[in-house]
Amino acid sequence: MDNQKTITLTILPGDGIGSEVMDAALLVLDAISKKKGFNFDLKHELAGGVSIDKHNSPLTDSVLQTCYDSDAVLLGALGGPKWDDLPHDQKPEMGFLKLRKGLDLFANLRPAIPFDALLNASSLKKEVIKDTNIMIVRELAGGIYFGEPRSYGEEEAYNTLRYNRHEIERISKMAFELAKARSGKVTSVDKANVLESSQFWRDQVRKIHSQYSDIVLNDMLADNAAMQLVRDPRQFDVILTQNLFGDILSDITAMITGSLGMLPSASIGSKHAMYEPVHGTAPEIAGKNIANPIAMIASLSMMLEFTFKDTKTSQELDRSISQVLNEGMRTQDIAQAGDNVLKTQEMAQAIIDVFLSF
Ligand code: IPM
Ligand code: MN
Repeated sequence: MDNQKTITLTILPGDGIGSEVMDAALLVLDAISKKKGFNFDLKHELAGGVSIDKHNSPLTDSVLQTCYDSDAVLLGALGGPKWDDLPHDQKPEMGFLKLRKGLDLFANLRPAIPFDALLNASSLKKEVIKDTNIMIVRELAGGIYFGEPRSYGEEEAYNTLRYNRHEIERISKMAFELAKARSGKVTSVDKANVLESSQFWRDQVRKIHSQYSDIVLNDMLADNAAMQLVRDPRQFDVILTQNLFGDILSDITAMITGSLGMLPSASIGSKHAMYEPVHGTAPEIAGKNIANPIAMIASLSMMLEFTFKDTKTSQELDRSISQVLNEGMRTQDIAQAGDNVLKTQEMAQAIIDVFLSF
């Protein structure tokens, strides 16, 4: 990354614990800029429920434009019980869909790598999850989330699951390219035994695969993939899948790492990118400064890697997180008896202290 250039980031804390984990991330961002001399220009904006309260919309066009004009977007979490009864198309979660579509963020990357220090925190056996390293590549701008026609009526409701060749090609290329730098294996998850859209997906993925002779491609049905993920997660490297299956499978892989509070994500398009934790707004613990900021901080690390191609700083940040965990520091969601339990901001500060010491 060119240290002199000003980097514009749109900051969307959102709702619930979103603002707490974002505050923690902003401390880390500050440390990154001090250590590396980066010059961040932060645009703080509203999204989700807080935007509904003020503007009657989960994401205004003007905020979308600000995101569009930024080098990257950082998002906390959107939603909460206060807005649950709103009509479907006015809910805070619609903010996500508008961002994903509006910025054409077609690839959602969700890595699942358990930290050694947390192997006991998972509900799965340590021997099963140890050394797992999965990258879920979820198609994010198409599929049943966006398919038309869609309708909610008195007697029936429906959605449309549709994919075109271009959409499948670009996400497949992303998966194969990522696999090149990993262990070279892609599992494409579909439901080709039942759905035409999945058979089409499978055929297109195979065509793209012919350009990647070094990569091993396996197809797997979605129900089997869900089972295999908890049976033997180490068999997977890159998982390539459509929007809805990726949503479901990424929550399953989350449990391999022990806590949703640990999982970062990147949503990437050809021109834009957004980084956010996989977890939600956790209204039951919001406002208590006890949320785990690690997923948000690890999302910064993904930003350094994918938007700014600064692998070195990204790795330094990841190593800082591991070291803090190795030293027994925990937020309450991942704590066990005898652990040193930290508040949200304290965890961020502990990570920063290690990061600045490298
Ligand atoms: C996610 C979330 C979103 C999704 C919702 C909140 C729209 O579950 O990012 O995984 O389904 O994509
Ligand atoms: Mn989800």
